[in-house]
Amino acid sequence: MKIDLKGKVAVVTGASKGIGLAISQALLEHGVTVAAVSRTSEDLQKITHQQNEQFPGKMFAFPASLEREEECIRVISEIGNCFGQIDILINCAGVSQHSFMDLEQLHREEFERILHTNLNSVLYCTRQTIPYMKQQNQGFILNILSTAAFQSSGGGIAYSASKYAARAVTEGLIEQYKGTGIRVTSISPGPVNTNIWSHKTQPVSEERKKKMLRPEDIAQIAMFLLQLDDNVHIGNITVEPWFIPPKK
Ligand SMILES: NC(=O)c1ccc[n+]([C@@H]2O[C@H](COP(=O)([O-])OP(=O)(O)OC[C@H]3O[C@@H](n4cnc5c(N)ncnc54)[C@H](OP(=O)(O)O)[C@@H]3O)[C@@H](O)[C@H]2O)c1
Repeated sequence: MKIDLKGKVAVVTGASKGIGLAISQALLEHGVTVAAVSRTSEDLQKITHQQNEQFPGKMFAFPASLEREEECIRVISEIGNCFGQIDILINCAGVSQHSFMDLEQLHREEFERILHTNLNSVLYCTRQTIPYMKQQNQGFILNILSTAAFQSSGGGIAYSASKYAARAVTEGLIEQYKGTGIRVTSISPGPVNTNIWSHKTQPVSEERKKKMLRPEDIAQIAMFLLQLDDNVHIGNITVEPWFIPPKK
C-alpha cells in the first residue's frame, strides 16, 4: 500500500541547514508537519518563519543539542507531547572533521564531538521516538549516513567511526523491525555542497563544490524512499556525484 504523507508528523534533526533543510522543505511540500531540531535557536527561528510563510502552521522549531542523551530525550518527548504522534524521523544532524588528520593528532575532544553528535543523536532520538511509532504500528526512520560509513580513510577515522557506528544502528533496527509497520532505511551520500564544508581548515574550491551533489538531490531520494509501497524495503541508497572522480 502506498503511504499517504498528508497529515503525518516528521521530526527532522539538523533541519536548519543543508540536507536536513532540503528534506524538511520536501516534506512540507507533501503536506507533512515538520518538527525541526538543531542546536542554534536563531537559525531555526529564521527557517521556520520563512517556511511558514509558504506553508502556514506546518513547521515548528525545537532547539536541542543532540550530542547529549538528556537533550534527545527532552526534545523528542516535547515533540511527542505537542503533536501526540511522530510518524517520521529523519536523523540528519551531523558534523564532520575540521581536517583530515593522522590518529596521533586526534584529540579526545574532537573525537567525542564527532562521535557524540553523529552517533548519539541517531541512537537516542530513535530510541525515544520508537514508542510513538509502536503506538500506531507504523513509522519511517531515515538515517543520513555517508559513503564514509562503508569506507574508512586514514585521515578521516573519527568521522568514519561515527558513521560506521550509525550504520550498525541502522542495520540493527532494520533486523529488529522487519515485517512490522516501522520501516528503517538510510541514504549514504558522497560529497554534498552544504555548509559542512565551510568548517574545514583547508578551504574547498568553488569549482569542486559545484561538482558536488546538491541537498535537493538527497531530498529527492528521501521522498522516493518515503513514498515506496509499504512492502518495498530498501535498506540503503549510496549516492555519489558523477563528476567527482574517485581518489586513486
Ligand atoms: N555535506 C556532505 O558532503 C555530506 C556527505 C555525506 C553525509 N553527510 C551527512 O549529512 C548530514 C547533514 O549534513 P549537512 O551537509 O547538511 O551539514 P550542515 O549544512 O552543516 O547541517 C548540519 C545540521 O546539523 C545540525 N547540528 C550539528 N550538530 C548538532 C548537534 N550537536 N545537535 C543538534 N543539531 C546539530 C546543524 O545545526 P547547528 O549548526 O545549529 O548545530 C545543522 O542544522 C550529516 O549527518 C552529515 O554527516 C553530509
